Amino acid sequence: MNVYDSHRIASMLNNLGFEETKTAQKADLIILNTCHIREKAAEKVFSDLGRLKMIKDERAKEGLDTVIGVVGCVVQAEDEEVFRRVPFIDFATGPLTYYRLPEILRKVGEKRGEPIIDTEFPAESKFDFLPQNSSMGGSSFLAIQEGCDNFCTYCIVPYTRGVETSRPVNDIIEEARILVAEGSVEINLLGQNVNSYRGTDASGKERNLAYLLRKIAEIDGLDRIRYTTSYPADVDDDLIECHRDILKLMPYLHLPVQSGSDKILKAMNRRHTSGEYLDKITRLKEARSDLQFSSDFIVGFPGESDKDFEDTLGLVRKVEFCQAFSFKYSRRAGTPAAIMPNQVEEKVKKERLEILQKLLAEYQLRFNKESIGKIMPVLFDIKGRHKGELIGRTPYMQNVHAELGKEYCNKIVNVRVTGANVNSLAGVKEGK
Ligand code: 5AD
Ligand code: SF4
Repeated sequence: MNVYDSHRIASMLNNLGFEETKTAQKADLIILNTCHIREKAAEKVFSDLGRLKMIKDERAKEGLDTVIGVVGCVVQAEDEEVFRRVPFIDFATGPLTYYRLPEILRKVGEKRGEPIIDTEFPAESKFDFLPQNSSMGGSSFLAIQEGCDNFCTYCIVPYTRGVETSRPVNDIIEEARILVAEGSVEINLLGQNVNSYRGTDASGKERNLAYLLRKIAEIDGLDRIRYTTSYPADVDDDLIECHRDILKLMPYLHLPVQSGSDKILKAMNRRHTSGEYLDKITRLKEARSDLQFSSDFIVGFPGESDKDFEDTLGLVRKVEFCQAFSFKYSRRAGTPAAIMPNQVEEKVKKERLEILQKLLAEYQLRFNKESIGKIMPVLFDIKGRHKGELIGRTPYMQNVHAELGKEYCNKIVNVRVTGANVNSLAGVKEGK
Protein backbone atom coordinates (compact mmCIF):
# COMPACT_ATOMS: atom_id res chain seq x y z
CA MET A 1 0.00 0.00 0.00
CA ASN A 2 2.88 2.36 0.72
CA VAL A 3 4.41 1.71 -2.70
CA TYR A 4 1.04 2.61 -4.19
CA ASP A 5 0.68 5.75 -2.06
CA SER A 6 4.21 6.83 -3.00
CA HIS A 7 3.39 6.37 -6.68
CA ARG A 8 0.32 8.59 -6.28
CA ILE A 9 2.33 11.20 -4.38
CA ALA A 10 4.96 11.21 -7.13
CA SER A 11 2.24 11.73 -9.80
CA MET A 12 0.78 14.59 -7.79
CA LEU A 13 4.19 16.25 -7.49
CA ASN A 14 4.77 15.76 -11.21
CA ASN A 15 1.58 17.69 -11.87
CA LEU A 16 2.96 20.49 -9.69
CA GLY A 17 6.07 20.64 -11.90
CA PHE A 18 8.45 18.55 -9.79
CA GLU A 19 10.82 16.06 -11.42
CA GLU A 20 12.30 12.99 -9.79
CA THR A 21 16.02 13.24 -8.94
CA LYS A 22 18.42 10.31 -8.90
CA THR A 23 19.85 11.16 -5.47
CA ALA A 24 18.61 12.92 -2.35
CA GLN A 25 21.54 15.37 -2.63
CA LYS A 26 19.95 16.83 -5.77
CA ALA A 27 16.43 17.15 -4.35
CA ASP A 28 14.74 20.41 -3.33
CA LEU A 29 11.93 18.38 -1.78
CA ILE A 30 12.32 15.05 0.02
CA ILE A 31 9.33 13.08 1.27
CA LEU A 32 9.56 9.94 3.37
CA ASN A 33 6.50 7.71 3.20
CA THR A 34 6.51 5.78 6.44
CA CYS A 35 5.31 2.51 8.00
CA HIS A 36 4.40 1.97 11.64
CA ILE A 37 3.54 -1.73 11.53
CA ARG A 38 6.55 -2.86 13.56
CA GLU A 39 9.02 -0.96 15.73
CA LYS A 40 11.89 -1.65 13.33
CA ALA A 41 10.10 0.00 10.41
CA ALA A 42 9.11 3.03 12.49
CA GLU A 43 12.59 3.51 13.98
CA LYS A 44 14.18 3.30 10.54
CA VAL A 45 12.28 6.47 9.63
CA PHE A 46 14.08 8.44 12.31
CA SER A 47 17.53 7.14 11.39
CA ASP A 48 16.81 7.90 7.72
CA LEU A 49 15.68 11.39 8.69
CA GLY A 50 18.97 11.88 10.57
CA ARG A 51 20.82 11.16 7.32
CA LEU A 52 18.55 13.50 5.36
CA LYS A 53 19.22 16.28 7.89
CA MET A 54 22.92 16.01 7.02
CA ILE A 55 22.09 16.37 3.34
CA LYS A 56 19.88 19.36 4.12
CA ASP A 57 22.77 21.00 6.05
CA GLU A 58 25.30 20.30 3.29
CA ARG A 59 22.96 21.75 0.68
CA ALA A 60 22.37 24.80 2.90
CA LYS A 61 26.14 25.50 2.80
CA GLU A 62 25.79 25.75 -0.99
CA GLY A 63 22.86 28.12 -0.55
CA LEU A 64 20.29 25.48 -1.49
CA ASP A 65 17.02 25.14 0.38
CA THR A 66 15.64 21.64 1.09
CA VAL A 67 12.09 20.94 2.18
CA ILE A 68 11.69 17.65 4.08
CA GLY A 69 8.29 16.09 4.72
CA VAL A 70 7.10 12.91 6.36
CA VAL A 71 3.97 11.11 5.18
CA GLY A 72 2.21 7.96 6.35
CA CYS A 73 1.39 5.87 9.38
CA VAL A 74 4.29 7.01 11.58
CA VAL A 75 2.85 10.53 11.43
CA GLN A 76 -0.69 9.32 12.13
CA ALA A 77 0.48 7.30 15.14
CA GLU A 78 3.00 9.72 16.66
CA ASP A 79 1.35 13.02 15.70
CA GLU A 80 3.09 16.14 17.16
CA GLU A 81 5.67 13.85 18.77
CA VAL A 82 7.27 13.57 15.31
CA PHE A 83 8.32 17.24 15.49
CA ARG A 84 9.88 16.71 18.91
CA ARG A 85 12.05 13.93 17.52
CA VAL A 86 12.85 15.56 14.17
CA PRO A 87 12.28 19.32 14.60
CA PHE A 88 14.01 20.10 11.30
CA ILE A 89 11.23 18.67 9.10
CA ASP A 90 8.86 21.08 7.36
CA PHE A 91 5.65 19.10 7.28
CA ALA A 92 4.03 15.84 8.29
CA THR A 93 0.81 14.25 7.04
CA GLY A 94 -0.98 10.98 7.67
CA PRO A 95 -1.79 8.34 5.02
CA LEU A 96 -5.34 9.62 4.50
CA THR A 97 -4.56 13.31 3.99
CA TYR A 98 -1.59 13.31 1.62
CA TYR A 99 -3.92 14.39 -1.18
CA ARG A 100 -3.65 17.83 0.45
CA LEU A 101 0.07 18.03 -0.42
CA PRO A 102 -0.32 20.87 -2.95
CA GLU A 103 -1.93 23.01 -0.24
CA ILE A 104 0.57 21.87 2.41
CA LEU A 105 3.51 22.75 0.13
CA ARG A 106 2.00 26.18 -0.52
CA LYS A 107 1.77 26.75 3.24
CA VAL A 108 5.37 25.57 3.70
CA GLY A 109 6.39 28.21 1.15
CA GLU A 110 4.48 30.91 3.03
CA LYS A 111 5.58 30.14 6.55
CA ARG A 112 9.01 28.58 6.39
CA GLY A 113 10.16 27.33 9.75
CA GLU A 114 6.71 26.69 11.17
CA PRO A 115 6.00 22.97 11.15
CA ILE A 116 2.75 21.93 9.45
CA ILE A 117 0.95 18.76 10.50
CA ASP A 118 -2.21 17.13 9.19
CA THR A 119 -3.38 13.98 10.98
CA GLU A 120 -7.10 14.43 10.50
CA PHE A 121 -9.27 11.43 9.66
CA PRO A 122 -11.05 13.24 6.83
CA ALA A 123 -14.72 12.67 6.07
CA GLU A 124 -13.94 12.73 2.35
CA SER A 125 -12.07 10.05 0.41
CA LYS A 126 -8.58 10.96 -0.78
CA PHE A 127 -9.36 9.13 -4.04
CA ASP A 128 -11.89 11.84 -4.95
CA PHE A 129 -9.16 14.48 -4.81
CA LEU A 130 -6.05 12.80 -6.16
CA PRO A 131 -5.20 13.27 -9.83
CA GLN A 132 -5.92 10.27 -12.09
CA ASN A 133 -3.79 7.23 -11.22
CA SER A 134 -1.23 6.22 -13.84
CA SER A 135 0.31 2.91 -14.81
CA MET A 136 3.37 1.73 -12.88
CA GLY A 137 4.54 -0.37 -15.86
CA GLY A 138 3.51 -3.90 -16.82
CA SER A 139 2.08 -4.41 -13.36
CA SER A 140 0.13 -1.77 -11.45
CA PHE A 141 -1.40 -1.47 -8.02
CA LEU A 142 -4.95 -0.22 -7.68
CA ALA A 143 -6.29 0.57 -4.19
CA ILE A 144 -9.95 -0.42 -3.90
CA GLN A 145 -10.35 -0.40 -0.14
CA GLU A 146 -8.55 1.21 2.76
CA GLY A 147 -8.55 0.89 6.54
CA CYS A 148 -9.52 -2.00 8.74
CA ASP A 149 -12.29 -2.80 11.23
CA ASN A 150 -10.79 -6.07 12.44
CA PHE A 151 -8.73 -4.74 15.33
CA CYS A 152 -6.35 -7.67 15.67
CA THR A 153 -4.94 -7.00 19.13
CA TYR A 154 -1.32 -6.62 17.93
CA CYS A 155 -2.03 -4.33 14.98
CA ILE A 156 -1.72 -0.57 14.66
CA VAL A 157 -3.36 -0.34 11.22
CA PRO A 158 -6.96 0.36 12.36
CA TYR A 159 -5.58 3.33 14.33
CA THR A 160 -3.49 4.74 11.49
CA ARG A 161 -5.43 3.92 8.33
CA GLY A 162 -8.79 4.31 10.03
CA VAL A 163 -12.08 2.47 9.52
CA GLU A 164 -12.76 0.41 6.42
CA THR A 165 -13.85 2.36 3.37
CA SER A 166 -14.42 1.04 -0.15
CA ARG A 167 -14.20 2.96 -3.41
CA PRO A 168 -17.20 2.89 -5.79
CA VAL A 169 -17.22 0.10 -8.40
CA ASN A 170 -17.23 2.42 -11.41
CA ASP A 171 -14.29 4.52 -10.22
CA ILE A 172 -12.24 1.34 -9.88
CA ILE A 173 -13.22 -0.05 -13.27
CA GLU A 174 -12.45 3.26 -14.97
CA GLU A 175 -9.06 3.39 -13.24
CA ALA A 176 -8.34 -0.23 -14.25
CA ARG A 177 -9.19 0.57 -17.89
CA ILE A 178 -6.80 3.51 -17.87
CA LEU A 179 -4.00 1.43 -16.34
CA VAL A 180 -4.48 -1.22 -19.05
CA ALA A 181 -4.63 1.42 -21.82
CA GLU A 182 -1.31 2.72 -20.49
CA GLY A 183 0.31 -0.70 -20.80
CA SER A 184 -0.41 -2.62 -17.60
CA VAL A 185 -1.11 -6.28 -18.25
CA GLU A 186 -1.40 -7.07 -14.55
CA ILE A 187 -3.42 -5.31 -11.87
CA ASN A 188 -3.08 -5.98 -8.17
CA LEU A 189 -6.17 -4.78 -6.28
CA LEU A 190 -5.14 -3.45 -2.90
CA GLY A 191 -6.72 -3.05 0.49
CA GLN A 192 -5.81 -3.71 4.11
CA ASN A 193 -8.74 -6.09 4.17
CA VAL A 194 -9.40 -6.31 0.46
CA ASN A 195 -11.88 -9.17 0.51
CA SER A 196 -14.25 -7.31 2.80
CA TYR A 197 -14.65 -4.79 -0.07
CA ARG A 198 -18.19 -3.40 -0.18
CA GLY A 199 -18.43 -0.68 -2.81
CA THR A 200 -21.49 0.83 -4.44
CA ASP A 201 -22.30 0.43 -8.13
CA ALA A 202 -23.95 3.06 -10.35
CA SER A 203 -27.41 2.16 -9.01
CA GLY A 204 -26.24 2.50 -5.41
CA LYS A 205 -26.24 -1.26 -4.84
CA GLU A 206 -23.51 -2.70 -2.63
CA ARG A 207 -21.13 -5.04 -4.43
CA ASN A 208 -18.45 -7.41 -3.14
CA LEU A 209 -14.94 -8.25 -4.27
CA ALA A 210 -16.18 -11.21 -6.33
CA TYR A 211 -18.43 -8.90 -8.35
CA LEU A 212 -15.56 -6.49 -8.91
CA LEU A 213 -13.18 -9.28 -9.98
CA ARG A 214 -15.67 -10.51 -12.57
CA LYS A 215 -16.10 -6.99 -13.96
CA ILE A 216 -12.37 -6.29 -14.08
CA ALA A 217 -11.72 -9.64 -15.78
CA GLU A 218 -13.82 -8.38 -18.73
CA ILE A 219 -11.22 -5.73 -19.59
CA ASP A 220 -9.48 -6.63 -22.86
CA GLY A 221 -5.71 -6.47 -22.71
CA LEU A 222 -5.62 -7.27 -19.01
CA ASP A 223 -4.02 -10.70 -18.52
CA ARG A 224 -3.43 -11.01 -14.81
CA ILE A 225 -5.44 -10.06 -11.73
CA ARG A 226 -4.31 -10.32 -8.12
CA TYR A 227 -5.75 -9.01 -4.88
CA THR A 228 -3.95 -8.31 -1.58
CA THR A 229 -4.39 -8.69 1.41
CA SER A 230 -7.26 -10.97 2.35
CA TYR A 231 -8.70 -11.85 5.71
CA PRO A 232 -9.41 -15.61 6.04
CA ALA A 233 -12.86 -15.25 7.66
CA ASP A 234 -14.00 -13.03 4.77
CA VAL A 235 -13.16 -15.59 2.07
CA ASP A 236 -16.75 -16.42 1.05
CA ASP A 237 -18.29 -18.85 -1.47
CA ASP A 238 -18.57 -16.11 -4.07
CA LEU A 239 -14.85 -15.41 -3.91
CA ILE A 240 -13.94 -19.10 -3.98
CA GLU A 241 -16.03 -19.45 -7.16
CA CYS A 242 -14.03 -16.62 -8.75
CA HIS A 243 -10.90 -18.74 -8.37
CA ARG A 244 -12.71 -21.52 -10.26
CA ASP A 245 -14.13 -19.31 -13.00
CA ILE A 246 -11.69 -16.50 -13.69
CA LEU A 247 -8.57 -17.70 -15.45
CA LYS A 248 -7.03 -14.23 -15.31
CA LEU A 249 -7.02 -14.52 -11.53
CA MET A 250 -3.50 -15.70 -10.73
CA PRO A 251 -3.17 -19.08 -8.96
CA TYR A 252 -1.46 -17.50 -5.96
CA LEU A 253 -3.18 -16.16 -2.89
CA HIS A 254 -1.67 -14.29 0.04
CA LEU A 255 -3.82 -15.35 2.98
CA PRO A 256 -2.29 -14.39 6.34
CA VAL A 257 -2.97 -16.83 9.18
CA GLN A 258 -0.60 -15.29 11.80
CA SER A 259 -0.55 -18.38 14.06
CA GLY A 260 -1.50 -22.06 14.04
CA SER A 261 -2.64 -22.02 17.67
CA ASP A 262 -6.33 -21.45 18.38
CA LYS A 263 -5.50 -20.05 21.81
CA ILE A 264 -3.22 -17.43 20.25
CA LEU A 265 -5.62 -16.68 17.38
CA LYS A 266 -8.29 -15.95 19.97
CA ALA A 267 -5.95 -13.69 21.95
CA MET A 268 -5.11 -11.97 18.66
CA ASN A 269 -8.86 -11.37 18.14
CA ARG A 270 -8.70 -13.15 14.80
CA ARG A 271 -12.13 -14.25 13.61
CA HIS A 272 -10.93 -17.70 12.56
CA THR A 273 -9.47 -20.87 14.04
CA SER A 274 -6.64 -22.82 12.45
CA GLY A 275 -9.20 -25.48 11.41
CA GLU A 276 -11.37 -22.88 9.67
CA TYR A 277 -8.30 -21.51 7.93
CA LEU A 278 -7.34 -24.97 6.68
CA ASP A 279 -10.90 -25.54 5.53
CA LYS A 280 -10.79 -22.36 3.42
CA ILE A 281 -7.50 -23.52 1.91
CA THR A 282 -9.01 -26.90 1.02
CA ARG A 283 -12.06 -25.30 -0.57
CA LEU A 284 -9.96 -22.85 -2.57
CA LYS A 285 -7.79 -25.73 -3.80
CA GLU A 286 -10.91 -27.66 -4.81
CA ALA A 287 -11.98 -24.64 -6.85
CA ARG A 288 -8.59 -24.31 -8.50
CA SER A 289 -6.18 -27.18 -8.07
CA ASP A 290 -3.04 -25.26 -9.06
CA LEU A 291 -3.62 -22.57 -6.41
CA GLN A 292 -0.65 -21.91 -4.11
CA PHE A 293 -0.62 -19.91 -0.90
CA SER A 294 1.54 -17.46 0.94
CA SER A 295 0.98 -16.13 4.42
CA ASP A 296 2.06 -13.85 7.24
CA PHE A 297 3.14 -15.20 10.63
CA ILE A 298 3.82 -13.59 13.97
CA VAL A 299 5.95 -15.47 16.50
CA GLY A 300 6.21 -14.60 20.17
CA PHE A 301 2.76 -13.06 20.60
CA PRO A 302 2.10 -12.58 24.37
CA GLY A 303 1.37 -15.92 26.01
CA GLU A 304 2.68 -18.03 23.10
CA SER A 305 3.99 -21.30 24.58
CA ASP A 306 6.24 -23.87 22.95
CA LYS A 307 3.11 -25.90 22.23
CA ASP A 308 1.41 -22.91 20.54
CA PHE A 309 4.50 -22.39 18.42
CA GLU A 310 4.53 -26.10 17.51
CA ASP A 311 0.94 -25.68 16.30
CA THR A 312 2.15 -22.95 13.93
CA LEU A 313 4.85 -25.27 12.57
CA GLY A 314 2.19 -27.98 12.20
CA LEU A 315 -0.01 -25.69 10.14
CA VAL A 316 2.94 -24.78 7.90
CA ARG A 317 3.58 -28.49 7.29
CA LYS A 318 -0.06 -28.97 6.33
CA VAL A 319 -0.39 -26.07 3.89
CA GLU A 320 3.16 -26.15 2.45
CA PHE A 321 3.19 -22.43 1.65
CA CYS A 322 5.08 -21.49 -1.50
CA GLN A 323 6.15 -18.19 0.11
CA ALA A 324 5.67 -16.47 3.44
CA PHE A 325 6.49 -13.44 5.55
CA SER A 326 7.24 -13.99 9.22
CA PHE A 327 7.89 -11.53 12.01
CA LYS A 328 8.70 -11.34 15.68
CA TYR A 329 5.79 -9.82 17.60
CA SER A 330 6.46 -6.10 18.03
CA ARG A 331 4.72 -4.13 20.79
CA ARG A 332 2.78 -1.21 19.34
CA ALA A 333 1.76 1.44 21.86
CA GLY A 334 -2.01 1.84 22.06
CA THR A 335 -2.86 -1.70 20.91
CA PRO A 336 -4.37 -4.18 23.42
CA ALA A 337 -1.56 -6.76 23.06
CA ALA A 338 1.09 -4.22 24.07
CA ILE A 339 -0.17 -4.33 27.66
CA MET A 340 -1.00 -8.04 27.81
CA PRO A 341 0.80 -10.07 30.48
CA ASN A 342 3.20 -12.87 29.53
CA GLN A 343 5.17 -10.95 26.93
CA VAL A 344 7.62 -13.36 25.31
CA GLU A 345 11.34 -12.83 25.80
CA GLU A 346 13.29 -11.44 22.85
CA LYS A 347 15.63 -14.46 22.87
CA VAL A 348 12.69 -16.87 22.55
CA LYS A 349 11.12 -14.79 19.77
CA LYS A 350 14.41 -14.84 17.88
CA GLU A 351 14.79 -18.62 18.25
CA ARG A 352 11.22 -19.28 17.13
CA LEU A 353 11.56 -16.96 14.14
CA GLU A 354 14.71 -18.77 13.03
CA ILE A 355 13.02 -22.18 13.31
CA LEU A 356 9.90 -21.00 11.47
CA GLN A 357 11.85 -19.26 8.71
CA LYS A 358 13.99 -22.35 8.17
CA LEU A 359 10.88 -24.49 7.73
CA LEU A 360 9.19 -21.96 5.45
CA ALA A 361 12.37 -21.70 3.34
CA GLU A 362 12.41 -25.50 2.89
CA TYR A 363 8.93 -25.46 1.35
CA GLN A 364 9.73 -22.38 -0.72
CA LEU A 365 12.90 -23.98 -2.08
CA ARG A 366 11.09 -27.22 -2.82
CA PHE A 367 8.37 -25.35 -4.69
CA ASN A 368 10.92 -23.34 -6.66
CA LYS A 369 12.91 -26.47 -7.53
CA GLU A 370 9.74 -28.13 -8.82
CA SER A 371 9.55 -25.30 -11.36
CA ILE A 372 12.80 -26.36 -13.04
CA GLY A 373 12.14 -27.60 -16.57
CA LYS A 374 8.67 -26.01 -16.68
CA ILE A 375 7.65 -23.35 -19.14
CA MET A 376 6.05 -20.46 -17.31
CA PRO A 377 4.59 -17.13 -18.41
CA VAL A 378 6.71 -14.43 -16.78
CA LEU A 379 5.85 -10.75 -16.59
CA PHE A 380 9.17 -8.88 -16.83
CA ASP A 381 9.20 -5.37 -15.43
CA ILE A 382 12.52 -4.74 -13.69
CA LYS A 383 16.02 -4.30 -15.12
CA GLY A 384 18.45 -6.77 -13.55
CA ARG A 385 21.81 -5.88 -12.04
CA HIS A 386 23.67 -7.33 -15.01
CA LYS A 387 23.49 -5.72 -18.42
CA GLY A 388 20.94 -7.44 -20.66
CA GLU A 389 19.13 -9.02 -17.72
CA LEU A 390 15.48 -8.57 -16.84
CA ILE A 391 13.63 -9.67 -13.72
CA GLY A 392 10.02 -10.75 -13.80
CA ARG A 393 7.43 -12.73 -11.93
CA THR A 394 5.71 -16.05 -12.57
CA PRO A 395 2.00 -16.48 -11.80
CA TYR A 396 3.18 -17.67 -8.34
CA MET A 397 5.13 -14.46 -7.65
CA GLN A 398 8.47 -16.21 -8.01
CA ASN A 399 11.19 -13.82 -9.20
CA VAL A 400 12.75 -14.93 -12.47
CA HIS A 401 16.07 -13.65 -13.82
CA ALA A 402 16.59 -14.00 -17.57
CA GLU A 403 18.84 -12.61 -20.24
CA LEU A 404 16.44 -10.56 -22.30
CA GLY A 405 16.45 -7.37 -24.34
CA LYS A 406 14.65 -4.36 -22.90
CA GLU A 407 11.98 -4.67 -25.61
CA TYR A 408 10.56 -7.44 -23.40
CA CYS A 409 10.20 -5.18 -20.37
CA ASN A 410 6.56 -4.90 -19.19
CA LYS A 411 5.61 -7.94 -21.32
CA ILE A 412 4.62 -11.49 -20.51
CA VAL A 413 7.14 -13.91 -22.00
CA ASN A 414 7.18 -17.72 -21.93
CA VAL A 415 10.28 -18.82 -20.06
CA ARG A 416 11.80 -22.25 -19.50
CA VAL A 417 13.00 -22.41 -15.91
CA THR A 418 16.62 -23.59 -15.75
CA GLY A 419 17.58 -23.00 -12.12
CA ALA A 420 16.11 -22.30 -8.70
CA ASN A 421 17.12 -21.18 -5.25
CA VAL A 422 15.06 -20.05 -2.26
CA ASN A 423 14.41 -16.54 -3.51
CA SER A 424 14.51 -16.72 -7.28
CA LEU A 425 14.48 -18.69 -10.48
CA ALA A 426 16.69 -18.49 -13.55
CA GLY A 427 15.21 -19.01 -16.98
CA VAL A 428 15.58 -18.65 -20.73
CA LYS A 429 13.05 -17.35 -23.20
CA GLU A 430 11.20 -20.21 -24.86
CA GLY A 431 10.87 -20.15 -28.66
CA LYS A 432 11.61 -17.17 -30.91
N1 5AD B 1 4.21 -7.24 15.29
C1 5AD B 1 4.65 -8.09 14.33
N2 5AD B 1 4.05 -8.24 13.15
C2 5AD B 1 2.94 -7.51 12.90
N3 5AD B 1 2.13 -7.48 11.84
C3 5AD B 1 1.16 -6.57 12.09
N4 5AD B 1 1.32 -6.02 13.31
C4 5AD B 1 2.43 -6.61 13.83
C5 5AD B 1 3.10 -6.50 15.09
N5 5AD B 1 2.68 -5.66 16.04
C6 5AD B 1 2.30 -8.32 10.67
C7 5AD B 1 1.11 -9.24 10.44
C8 5AD B 1 0.45 -8.65 9.23
C9 5AD B 1 1.63 -8.06 8.49
C10 5AD B 1 1.31 -7.02 7.49
O1 5AD B 1 2.43 -7.51 9.52
O2 5AD B 1 1.60 -10.54 10.16
O3 5AD B 1 -0.26 -9.60 8.45
FE1 SF4 C 1 -4.08 -5.37 11.06
FE2 SF4 C 1 -4.67 -7.01 9.01
FE3 SF4 C 1 -5.67 -7.48 11.51
FE4 SF4 C 1 -6.56 -5.40 10.04
S1 SF4 C 1 -6.78 -7.62 9.57
S2 SF4 C 1 -6.04 -5.36 12.22
S3 SF4 C 1 -4.68 -4.75 8.99
S4 SF4 C 1 -3.48 -7.56 10.82
